[in-house]
Amino acid sequence: MKISIIGTGYVGTVTGTCLAELGHQIVFVVRDTKKRDLIPSGKSLIYEPGLDQLLEKNLARISTTMDLPDAIRKTELTFVCVGTPSNDDGSINLDQIRDVSHTIGKSLASDDEYHTIIVKSTVLPGTSETLVIPILEKESGKNAFVDFGFSSNPEFLKKGTAIEDFFHTDRIVIGVNDPKTKEVLEKLYQPLNAPIFATTIRTSEMIKYTSNSFLATKISFANEIGNLCKKMGIDSYEVFKGVGLDARINPHFFRSGIGFGGSCFPKDLKALIAHARTLGIEPQILTAVIGTNEDQPAKMIDLLKRHLDIAGKTIGVLGLAFKPDSDDIQESRAVPIIQALLKERAKIIAFDPVATENFRYLFPDVSYAKTAREVLDADAVLIVTEWKEFEDLDYRNKLVIDGRRIGKAHKEAVTYEGVCW
Ligand code: UGA
Repeated sequence: MKISIIGTGYVGTVTGTCLAELGHQIVFVVRDTKKRDLIPSGKSLIYEPGLDQLLEKNLARISTTMDLPDAIRKTELTFVCVGTPSNDDGSINLDQIRDVSHTIGKSLASDDEYHTIIVKSTVLPGTSETLVIPILEKESGKNAFVDFGFSSNPEFLKKGTAIEDFFHTDRIVIGVNDPKTKEVLEKLYQPLNAPIFATTIRTSEMIKYTSNSFLATKISFANEIGNLCKKMGIDSYEVFKGVGLDARINPHFFRSGIGFGGSCFPKDLKALIAHARTLGIEPQILTAVIGTNEDQPAKMIDLLKRHLDIAGKTIGVLGLAFKPDSDDIQESRAVPIIQALLKERAKIIAFDPVATENFRYLFPDVSYAKTAREVLDADAVLIVTEWKEFEDLDYRNKLVIDGRRIGKAHKEAVTYEGVCW
């Protein structure tokens, strides 16, 4: 199929590149000349393991353009993958979705062929039906589900393992309203051999929010139990190993520690909370999930203070990205931790294998080490992100406060505190 991808952030670039690998012709619609010129040389400008290699491998099937109407005319299918960031009050910002819907609608007006629009951006339930489709219909003068196809198809990719997640997904969720669109999507995803769950458009949008909310809830639950375990001298990782053996519960997303960050869980939970309030519902569990998450980083500082008077000491920070195998620092737990250390008048030496430059932009005055080993010379070491290479360091004679459970530090450090164990 000929497919255009609007939005070449993380979701759009991964989706387009993986669809090219499945044999489809991909047109990335970009907004800046840098991306337009770099993608054809196999560079995505996104840090995601394996992405640039896959892009390079499939270049013959990939092109870029800044001309959205032309991309629509030349393709049969369009994925909308633009960002839906948070407003200051936590509510969802739909500006990009709105803008792009107007442009796509106008382009559909002059497209003689049948075209299918698929929204992959994370949007609150009802957004497709009350905002996107009405704009598309008004601008094109055509009817959705009759003159053009439409679907909502949320993504479940995790940063750092997105390519693996695309090709080996547990399920594909499609929100559809007409048999023709359903058929198009089933054909598109058939090579992935994954269960396809077809439902209504607004239900599919809700599945995305419910999945992220549940995963975040699991983490905050694991952290609350972990805080209790810490007080009682119990290892929460052992507890969740035992708990996770129950097939009704499963062992995933119970890694307790300093909590979740990234561009998805915090943003999506806050958007759902804000939306619930507009519907007159106070979402107590979701609010508590955010509250517990915000409290976790301070636990690390409290543990450090038990062993060291922080003022004037050099504190090493291992890891700045919100998770390993990513350069993303959005809502990274490293941010409140570094802020707290600065407030306590610590000298900081920090290291991350790929996220340092992004972090330096936020905290230009912190010292950044070139290697993880340099960080170990500090008076104490805080482990904030569980990069695999931190498992190879020599922690003997060190004071380590671990927010992510690095096994070797646990075994070796002379003084070791785990946040929830
Ligand atoms: C998350 C979801 O897992 C994806 O399914 C979803 O597609 C994506 O959001 C999205 O909405 O786009 P992501 O944020 O990339 O993916 O990464 P996760 O692996 O879910 O990690 C999120 C945060 O939770 C990280 O800070 C991680 O350290 C933390 N986490 C994760 C824990 O603290 N404990 C765990 O057991 C698991």
